[in-house]
Amino acid sequence: MRGYFGIGSERISKPMNLGAVLRTAHAFNASFAFTVAAHHHAREVNLSDTAKSAAHVPLYEWDSFAEMRLPKGCVLVGVELDDAAIDLPSFSHPLNAAYLLGPEKGDLSPEARSLCTHLVKIPTRFCVNLSIAAALVMYDRTISLGGHGARSVSSNKQSPAPPVEKWLRTHHRKKTKTPPA
Ligand SMILES: C[S@@+](CC[C@H](N)C(=O)[O-])C[C@H]1O[C@@H](n2cnc3c(N)ncnc32)[C@H](O)[C@@H]1O
Repeated sequence: MRGYFGIGSERISKPMNLGAVLRTAHAFNASFAFTVAAHHHAREVNLSDTAKSAAHVPLYEWDSFAEMRLPKGCVLVGVELDDAAIDLPSFSHPLNAAYLLGPEKGDLSPEARSLCTHLVKIPTRFCVNLSIAAALVMYDRTISLGGHGARSVSSNKQSPAPPVEKWLRTHHRKKTKTPPA
């Protein structure tokens, strides 16, 4: 994977959500995770993060945006279901990015938005769970920057489906098998 990324949330309150974000961030090889103005409940994160991901992915807990310190050149990308946002599938992920999600209740604050260079949305009919949104953003980044080959039906390397006659023979045999006496 080219570049690096971090992921975090503003005013996150549920430890289960933070735990899920951390675990998924660890799985997707995030370089860091962060919270800004997290509710103190969210800090009971070890209850939910079974992989104890904070031991593997550095977690920064900033009380405010004034305290936030991103690495030099790291682009802050807001993630919010908003008409003004760019659709995630058409978004070119910056090589060095920090993705900022909103809280469970409410949206990214005006201050958060003003600090973001980009705002992206996942094309869903309504808001999904915060940790699901985080996972989708990380997955989208992995698809676009992970160096995977282009997708096409013809490049699928899997055995073709068996001919219908063979399938029918097998299926018929199974169905008509005499039950044990
Ligand atoms: C559960 S949602 C926020 C709840 C929602 N604003 C409400 O009060 O109805 C939590 C966060 O997940 C992210 N999120 C959820 N669905 C999203 C989507 N479709 N596109 C982008 N971000 C999304 C945003 O960062 C959002 O602030």
